[in-house]
Amino acid sequence: MEISGTTQVIAILGHPVSHSLSPLMHNSAFRKMGLDYCYIALDVHPSGLRAAIEGIREMGFAGLNITVPHKEAVMPMLDKVDPEAAFIGAVNTIVNRNGKLIGYNTDGRGFIRSLKEESVEVRDKNVLLVGAGGAARAVSWYLAEEGSDLSIYNRTSEKADLLAGDLAINFKNVRRAESLDALVEADIVINSTSLGLNPQDPLPFDPSGLKPGAVVIDLIYQDTPLIQQARQSGHKTIGGLGMLLWQGVLASELWTGLTPPHEHMKDIIFKSLG
Ligand code: ATR
Repeated sequence: MEISGTTQVIAILGHPVSHSLSPLMHNSAFRKMGLDYCYIALDVHPSGLRAAIEGIREMGFAGLNITVPHKEAVMPMLDKVDPEAAFIGAVNTIVNRNGKLIGYNTDGRGFIRSLKEESVEVRDKNVLLVGAGGAARAVSWYLAEEGSDLSIYNRTSEKADLLAGDLAINFKNVRRAESLDALVEADIVINSTSLGLNPQDPLPFDPSGLKPGAVVIDLIYQDTPLIQQARQSGHKTIGGLGMLLWQGVLASELWTGLTPPHEHMKDIIFKSLG
């Protein structure tokens, strides 16, 4: 559909943001659905975030995605934050409902949807989550909610304690792992650390110590050395592309009230990454 005077605008705010696959994925879905929406990327410096949010309110954008480094900072600028996003402490999706900006987080739910698509069931499974930063917070709530037996290991143990403690308020099945020795027991291991983003990074853990049937998941969407090694040693592996896709599908549902064509969105992402 051509951009016209009635086109509804959605934007992703980040810094940097030009590498984002979201504009391609969402514009393609909007076109496929015949919706009069467009999606743009706006590079906003942290010092200008408040002004940008006010501008978006004034200009009546239909919604936003929020990415690094604004996911936490944007929260106090909104009219309302959904309880799940409040627990996670980060917002990745905003809906403009009649001038009120409502914050959501679709990362964790998107992660669970990506596991379901791969037929990976977490209920009653021994899940080891490595890392306790923002990404870990986003997925841990849903892992606990889905009934996994969840252990959290982090280099800085205080952060794993804090996250496990926050989850323990609502869930019984969560604890901190003292060390990576917990790997040998795990049915599913998830890397939520940033290790793997740079080629010179060490592995976040050694997949050779895992049980033969264990599943290895990386929230990073590139084909990381961890995923490559785990694959070579015969484990089922899941990278972060599914989470990227499904957080986008769920965000699109929040903006438009309609179900976007997820297979089409997946094709677009895969093609753009070659
Ligand atoms: P994100 O939003 O991507 O989760 P973050 O909140 O900064 O980013 O969290 C980064 C995670 O990667 C943390 O768990 C961090 O561990 P610490 O809490 O100990 O810093 C982990 N991490 C980053 N670099 C690491 C390294 N070299 N070794 C082990 N863990 C690392």
